[in-house]
Amino acid sequence: MNYRHAFHAGNHADVLKHLILCRLIALLSRKEAPFAYLDSHAGVGLYDLAGDQASRTGEWLEGIARLWQAEDVPDQLLDYLEVVRAMNPDGVLRHYPGSPELVRLLSREQDRLQLNEKHPEDGRLLKENMAGDRRVAVHLGEGWHVPRALLPTREKRVLLLIDPPFEKADELERCVQSLNEAIGRMRQAVVAIWYPIKALDQLKRFYRDLEKSAAPKLLRVELYVQSTDEAQRLNGSGLVISNPPWGLEEELRQLLPWLAERLAQGQGGWRLDWLIEEKAPG
Ligand SMILES: C[S@@+](CC[C@H](N)C(=O)[O-])C[C@H]1O[C@@H](n2cnc3c(N)ncnc32)[C@H](O)[C@@H]1O
Repeated sequence: MNYRHAFHAGNHADVLKHLILCRLIALLSRKEAPFAYLDSHAGVGLYDLAGDQASRTGEWLEGIARLWQAEDVPDQLLDYLEVVRAMNPDGVLRHYPGSPELVRLLSREQDRLQLNEKHPEDGRLLKENMAGDRRVAVHLGEGWHVPRALLPTREKRVLLLIDPPFEKADELERCVQSLNEAIGRMRQAVVAIWYPIKALDQLKRFYRDLEKSAAPKLLRVELYVQSTDEAQRLNGSGLVISNPPWGLEEELRQLLPWLAERLAQGQGGWRLDWLIEEKAPG
C-alpha cells in the first residue's frame, strides 16, 4: 500500500467527487429519516495543502484553488465551498477536507458515519481527526469487505462511497463486485464509485460490467480536464451512482458545464448518462 491521498488532495478529481458527495448528502437530508454513510477507503479525513506531500505535487492548484473563492458559483456548489472557506478563514487556502470530514460536517444529528481505512498510519490519523463525534465509527479493516461487514444497516437509507487508490489492476472489477454485494444486501443503497480516467477506451470493460450489474438504476458522471486520447496522465475522473436521489441528475446537468470550464487544462468536457435506466414496472 504505497498510495497516500495527501499527494492528490484537492485536485480536479477530488473536486468532482467531493462536490457530488455534498449534493448526495443534501438530497438525502430532504427527508427527516436518518441515513448511514459508509466510506470503504476513507483516507485521513483532513489534508494540509502546505504539507510536504501536497506541496510536492501541487495538484490542488489546478483543482480547489481554481474555485474556492469564485463569486459566480452555481448554488449547488455552495455547501462544499462553504466548508472549505470555513476551514481557511484567513483567505489562504491551506486546509482541505476529505470525504469523511465533508460528510461529518454536512450530515445531521440522526445520521451515522462508518469509516474504513486500511493503511495503519492513515487509519490512526483518521481516528484522531474524527475523535469526539459520537456519530462516527472508524474501522481499520479491508475496504473490499465493507459491503459484507456493514450492510444492511439499521437505517433504511445508506450511502456507500467506494474510492480505492487504483494501485492494482483488478480494482475496477472489485468495484463492480462491491456494488453487486451492496445491492444484494440493500437494493435501495446509494453506492457511489469513483474512478480515474486516462484514456476512455481503457474503461470499456468496466462500463460493460456495470451495465450488467445488479443496480436497479445507475448514473454515470464524468469530467475531463483535457483530451482523453492520451493515456499518460489523469485526464479526468468519473463516478457511477446507483439509485441516485431524485434531483441529482438535473442538478449535475446544470453544474457540469460550469465546472468543466473552470477546471479545464486543455480540451475539457463532461458526460452525464444512465448506464442502467430504471425498468418500467410490470
Ligand atoms: C483515494 S484515497 C481515499 C480518499 C477519501 N475517500 C477522500 O475522498 O477524502 C484511497 C484510500 O484507500 C486506502 N486503501 C488502500 N487500499 C485499501 C484497502 N484494501 N482497504 C481499505 N483502504 C485502502 C488508502 O490508504 C487511501 O487512504
